[in-house]
Amino acid sequence: MTFLHSDSENIRSRENLPVTIHHGAREASVLIAKEIATLIKKKKELNDHCVLGLPTGSTPVEVYDELVRMHKEDGLSFENVVTFNLDEYYPMQPYKLQSYVRFMREHLLDQVDLKPENIHIPDGTIPVEEVPGFCRNYEEKVKSYGGIDLQLLGIGRTGHIGFNEPGSGKKSRTRLISLDHITIADSASDFFGEENVPKRAITMGIGNILESKQIILMAWGEGKAKI
Ligand code: F6R
Repeated sequence: MTFLHSDSENIRSRENLPVTIHHGAREASVLIAKEIATLIKKKKELNDHCVLGLPTGSTPVEVYDELVRMHKEDGLSFENVVTFNLDEYYPMQPYKLQSYVRFMREHLLDQVDLKPENIHIPDGTIPVEEVPGFCRNYEEKVKSYGGIDLQLLGIGRTGHIGFNEPGSGKKSRTRLISLDHITIADSASDFFGEENVPKRAITMGIGNILESKQIILMAWGEGKAKI
């Protein structure tokens, strides 16, 4: 299932989020990857950056697989692409198995021709007192590229997007957040036990996400149906 919200849609579709139900995650992922590729190429023709907001987790994996395939087999270039990841556990070292830096490198970044200077992922290694400054800087960087053209989202069992757990304000900004106990339980297997899951994360806020020019929220399978 995908929800699509675009600034360029007419008023009616702004009020009613378009929902598409697909037969399976694979079919939907291929369509979403095609949409991303079309945007990348359109922006390239305009000699412009294509700014993508990206999630991690199981949901986007097949979208990334298809983008990598398009790069390797169809010559899709990511030279004009700038990426901003939604979130990272805090604290977290980038080389760790569970780090979102590692996840993104494995599934997308190391497999396409993205320029290293165009990749942005919240830094889980900085001292806690430096986090607010880091978050302000992260938002400034997004602004310097003219905002996010397309934000991809998954959704957690708590209903979180990014790591904006229930209670997050609609205008919330990039910040350090405490993870919900359900999110910690869901991450336990990745960390070989609940006690090893970081209790906090750095996440872009709901306010940041809603500023994106277009959003695609993906939710696959029965486990996500209720939320
Ligand atoms: C991760 C993120 C989260 C996930 C959500 C769903 O960067 O932003 O909101 O999208 O926890 O995770 P999966 O896809 O593993 O079910």
